[in-house]
Amino acid sequence: MSDYRFLKACWGEPVDRTPVWLMRQAGRYLPQYMAVRSKVSFLELCKTPELAAEVTIQPIDYLGADAAILFSDILTPVEPMGLKLDFAPGPVFESPVRTQADIDALRIPVMEEDVPYVLETIRILRREFEGRVPLIGFGGAPFTLACYMVEGKGSKDFAQIKRMMYSAPESYASLMEKITEMDRQYLNAQIAAGAQAIQIFDTWGGIVSPGDYEKYILPYTTKLIEGLNRTGVPIIHFVKGAGTMLDLVKRAGSDVVGLDWHIGLGKARNLLGTEVAVQGNLDPTILYAPPEHIEREVKRILDENDGRPGHIFNLGHGILPTVPPEHAKFMVECVQRLSAKG
Ligand code: CP3
Repeated sequence: MSDYRFLKACWGEPVDRTPVWLMRQAGRYLPQYMAVRSKVSFLELCKTPELAAEVTIQPIDYLGADAAILFSDILTPVEPMGLKLDFAPGPVFESPVRTQADIDALRIPVMEEDVPYVLETIRILRREFEGRVPLIGFGGAPFTLACYMVEGKGSKDFAQIKRMMYSAPESYASLMEKITEMDRQYLNAQIAAGAQAIQIFDTWGGIVSPGDYEKYILPYTTKLIEGLNRTGVPIIHFVKGAGTMLDLVKRAGSDVVGLDWHIGLGKARNLLGTEVAVQGNLDPTILYAPPEHIEREVKRILDENDGRPGHIFNLGHGILPTVPPEHAKFMVECVQRLSAKG
């Protein structure tokens, strides 16, 4: 069904009101998520399709969001490349990738065999959601995946990945090529299983200069997007911290550009032009503010968009675990009320 307002907005078509969903909308801020999560580890949750489907549905029921996002993690397909993964609670790879030999040892998973649970979760959700909301599949951008694989965990300065990038550029390139190919197959498998849109998360794409983004990151994301079976399936590309290089992000060729909150939505739209839609861009910490403040910020963003087609309302990054759930619900209601036509 292409009359879902979320999909229409992705294609830049007019809609009755602005569609809204929240990055990381399934998660720890919801007591109903914690109830499921208290019985299983995060990885078990990702690997059990019935449970992953259940927590995907929770924010649709509670918030009334206009799109659902598959419950999984960007690192799910990296484990079967040969890197043992734990969450403590952030992701940890026991043996990070540091040498050319480590890169050569990585395998490209066979998706139906190595991550069948992801594809099964998508199939369950498509049956559950038919006629209600569209389902977004997702993956990490090659660079953000490389950051975790090389650092072994989150990082403040990303010294290891940058060291590889600048001092062993051939190794860096071979790692990025391999991840890009894995990602291409992984996202195409999600599309084949029924994902109706794909979001590529480049959480760490903004940690380099624009020149280095163009040289070391953009070619791989561009190749990934070119390799997707994207007919009828909009691609959303979110690069956190990319406000100063949206022209480059646009060149990767997505249908929708995700925006964090460091650039005004109006300014971003003027820079990006009319060919791409945008998604964003409320600072996630605004959800700690009282309702009047939340409403004011929602209105400001809608005003900045100024009625242009092709806007999907979202946060500028994932919802934080300590946000009151009723504030998230109120934010969704504000978007729905304030953007309704007529
Ligand atoms: O958006 C959704 O509701 C779908 C599920 C989803 C998760 N992770 C579930 C999750 C999505 C889309 C992601 C993407 C993801 N994972 C990103 C890109 C987006 C972003 O937030 O920057 C990144 C960088 C990761 C890696 C990751 N996974 C980190 C850094 C962490 C720990 C941070 C934290 O929130 O504690 C995770 C764990 C994780 N992924 C949780 C959830 C619900 C928390 C796990 C738990 O229940 O303990």
